[in-house]
Order: sequence, then C-alpha cells, then structure tokens
Amino acid sequence: MNFNRKHLLGLEHVSAEEIKLILDTAESFKEVLERPIPKVPTLRGKTIVNLFYESSTRTRFSFELAEKRLSADTLNFSASTSSVKKGESLRDTAQNIEAMKVDMVVIRHGAAGAAHYLSRCIKGTVINAGDGWHEHPTQALLDMLTIRERFNNFKGLKVAIVGDILHSRVARSNIFGLKTMGAEVAICAPRTLIPFEAEKWKVNIFNDVDQTIAWADILMVLRIQLERQAQNFFPSLREYHNYFGITRERLERIKRDITIMHPGPINRGIELDSDLADDAQYSVILNQVTNGVAIRMAVLYLLSGENKSH
Ligand code: CP
Repeated sequence: MNFNRKHLLGLEHVSAEEIKLILDTAESFKEVLERPIPKVPTLRGKTIVNLFYESSTRTRFSFELAEKRLSADTLNFSASTSSVKKGESLRDTAQNIEAMKVDMVVIRHGAAGAAHYLSRCIKGTVINAGDGWHEHPTQALLDMLTIRERFNNFKGLKVAIVGDILHSRVARSNIFGLKTMGAEVAICAPRTLIPFEAEKWKVNIFNDVDQTIAWADILMVLRIQLERQAQNFFPSLREYHNYFGITRERLERIKRDITIMHPGPINRGIELDSDLADDAQYSVILNQVTNGVAIRMAVLYLLSGENKSH
C-alpha cells in the first residue's frame, strides 16, 4: 500500500490501513535502531525544519533523532530565540524558511489549527507535532505501537484515558486512532475537564476512577495542564489526586494485570503515584518514548514520498 498523503495534521481522518502501514514501517525502523550504526541514507538530501513555538522534550528530540537516523539535514527553530520575538508572523516565518529550500516542516504550536494553516501557506510537507488542544498524531501513533507490541492487536481492547481531557491533544488523537483500529475507548475526568464535544466521540464517559480501573485493560494517564487553565476546574491538586489519581492501592484492588501509559511529562504524585510510573509490572512509559523515534522515522519516510520512488 502506498501512503498518498502530503501532510500529517491529525488522525481524525486517517484510515486503519494507513495507521497499520505507519506502525509496520516503524517496526522495521526499530530493527535499524538496534544496529551498531543506527542510520540509513533514506532521506539524504532532504532538509527538515523543526518549528517549535512551544516547549517540548520528547517530541522535539525524537523528531530530531529520527531525522538524523534517516540522514536528513535538520534545522531547529525555537520561537523564543527567533524573529518571532520581533513580531514576525507564523506565515512569514514559514515562508522565509521555505525560501531556503526546505522539504518538510514539523510544527508544534499553542494554537489549535496552526498545522492546518501552515499547510496552506507553504508548498512543503507539514507534520503536526501538537497544536494547542487539537491533535498530536505522532504521540497517538507511538502509543498505538506500544499497545500493539504488548497486546498484538486492538480489537476489543479497553483503553481508558484518565485526566485533563479538555485540554488534551493527546486524548483527541488517541480517541480517533484507537477507535479506528477497533479498540473500545473510555474517558475519565471531573465533569469540568470533559469537553462538550465528547458526546460526538462515542466513547464511554466515567467520572469515577475506580469504575474506570475495573473496566480497563490500559490506563492512559494524562497530566493536569495547569499552563492551559485560565480558571479553576477543580478545588485543589490534592483533591484531584484523592478522587482521580492512579494509586497502587487502587490498582491492587482489581487483582489482575493492567497497563499504565503516560505521554509525559508526568506530574508525579498528582495524576499518578511516582513509584507506579517506574514499576515495570504496570508501566510502559519509557517504551512509549523509545517508540517515538521509530514512529517519527516512519512518518517522515512515508510522507517524503521515498517509498514511492522504488
Ligand atoms: N508527549 C509530549 O508531547 O511530550 P513533550 O511535550 O515533551 O514533547
């Protein structure tokens, strides 16, 4: 199957066949990453810009590493040290960078829709590395690769996303991707952190974390995004932890295996007990990070069109 997309802006309209192709391609890149010299010449001659208007550790480094592993030339842009500080717009910034002959742009931006907008401003390929509350497609893809490695397939698997759903692009991309792949999805949060649009997602909605844990095979735990909250959605972080925190005591009550995922960064002791995050019996959090490089290699490769030229 060919991957006939120019951009990856979200997972809402990406088919099961396309997601499977990305996951299979990432698996073959994982084999490359295990080699003594983990590098292939696949994107030699391509130039990729990482345009980050928001802070990032995992996404930024794994895109950069993926580009280097594929032998692309990379440029890294931080809004805080660029002419954005002098008032330059996103459109002008991107068009000026593209004038230097760039093939692909990876963008993270605080505004929902920034990646879509950019895809209409420039001729090159755009990859959404997280746009406001909207989508974070490569995060959901690396989450799905991690799930597939542990459970082999998605059909009938019960995945509960617990935490700040309202402000979460990770939740949206995972809901779209996991449902497309046949998983059952639930969300669990205080009512104030569940958006009105959740009704349209056709997911189970829980407000009780113990019921959620009893239902789920996988808990995808999200942090409370205090930096995006202009108002108080719950009385205090301690109260949030008491009612919605994933604790060892809660998990041990169900007396069966359950898998814990988290996209990071973790607010240890708030949404998740610190020792659970590091407990290999439950947690696949660092596997998610490892898989991020292979997924981003797969996405860059498939969008570059190199898979069609052989
Ligand atoms: N999961 C994720 O997007 O992490 P960063 O913000 O560190 O990139």
